[in-house]
Amino acid sequence: MTINFQGKTALVTGAGSGIGAACAHKFAQCGAYVFVNDIDPVRAESVAKEIGGTALAGDVASPGAWLDPVLERGELHALVHNAGYDLATRMGSTEMAAFDRLHRIQISGPFEMTQLLLPVLRAANGAIVIFVASVHGIATEPETSAYAAAKGALIAMVRSLCQDLGPDRIRALTVSPGYVDTPLLDLWMGSTPDPAATRAHAESLHPLGRMGQPEEIASLIAFLASPYAEFINGTNIVIDGGLTARLMD
Ligand SMILES: NC(=O)c1ccc[n+]([C@@H]2O[C@H](COP(=O)([O-])OP(=O)(O)OC[C@H]3O[C@@H](n4cnc5c(N)ncnc54)[C@H](O)[C@@H]3O)[C@@H](O)[C@H]2O)c1
Repeated sequence: MTINFQGKTALVTGAGSGIGAACAHKFAQCGAYVFVNDIDPVRAESVAKEIGGTALAGDVASPGAWLDPVLERGELHALVHNAGYDLATRMGSTEMAAFDRLHRIQISGPFEMTQLLLPVLRAANGAIVIFVASVHGIATEPETSAYAAAKGALIAMVRSLCQDLGPDRIRALTVSPGYVDTPLLDLWMGSTPDPAATRAHAESLHPLGRMGQPEEIASLIAFLASPYAEFINGTNIVIDGGLTARLMD
C-alpha cells in the first residue's frame, strides 16, 4: 500500500519533537507540503529544513496571524493537532493557571485553530482534522486529572465535529497512543526517583513488552489521512500495543 500525498498540504502542530516531528517527516515522505508548527522556533525551523517544509513558530493556545501562510496556501488537506504535554495535578496543590493553560493548548486552542482554518479545509474538498489524544482519555491514573480530562474531551469532541464538518467532506478523528518513546516521556521519567525502573515498568505494562515509537504513530496518522481511510470518521483509534486491554499491572 503506497500513500501518495503529492499536491496535498498538511499542518502538524508541536512538530519540532517526538510524535509531531515523526508526522511531519512521514507526510513529507509521502509527498505532502508540510507546515511545521512549534512554540519553539528553533525546533520548528530545524524540522522544516530537514523536510523542505515551512516553519510556523506559534503557540497553539493563541491561533492568529502566524497561521496566515496556511490560509494563503489556499487548501489544507490534513490538520494534525499534536502539540501538548502532561501535567501532574495533585488535588490540593494544583495551580489553576497551569490547569487552564493545558486545556487551552489541548482543547480550546485547537478548536479555535480549526475554526480559523475552515476556509482552507473546505477548499481541499476532502480534508481531515486529527487530534492526538491519549489512552489517558479512556483509562488513567492518579494525579493526571487535567491531562485525562483534556484527552477525553478531544475524544468526545470529534464525535460532534465529524457531524458538523461531514457536509464539507472534512473528517474528524482522535488517535490515542499508549506510551511512546519521545522527549516528553523522557522528561516525565527523569522526574521520577528511578527513571530506569520507571521505563522498565512502563514497557512491561504493554503486552508487547515495549513502548511505541513516534514513527508508528505517524504511520497510523498518515494512513488515516489517506484515501484508504476515507470512511473512517468521528471515532477514536487506539494505538497502544494492547495497554488498555489489561485489567491489572
Ligand atoms: N509520548 C507519549 O507517551 C504520548 C502518549 C500519548 C499521547 N501523547 C501526546 O502526543 C503529543 C506529542 O507528544 P510527544 O511525546 O511527541 O511530546 P514532545 O514533547 O516530544 O513534543 C511536543 C512538541 O510540542 C511543542 N509544543 C508544546 N506546547 C506547544 C504549544 N503551545 N504550541 C505549539 N507547540 C507546542 C513542544 O515544543 C514540542 O516540540 C502530545 O499531545 C501528547 O500529549 C504522547
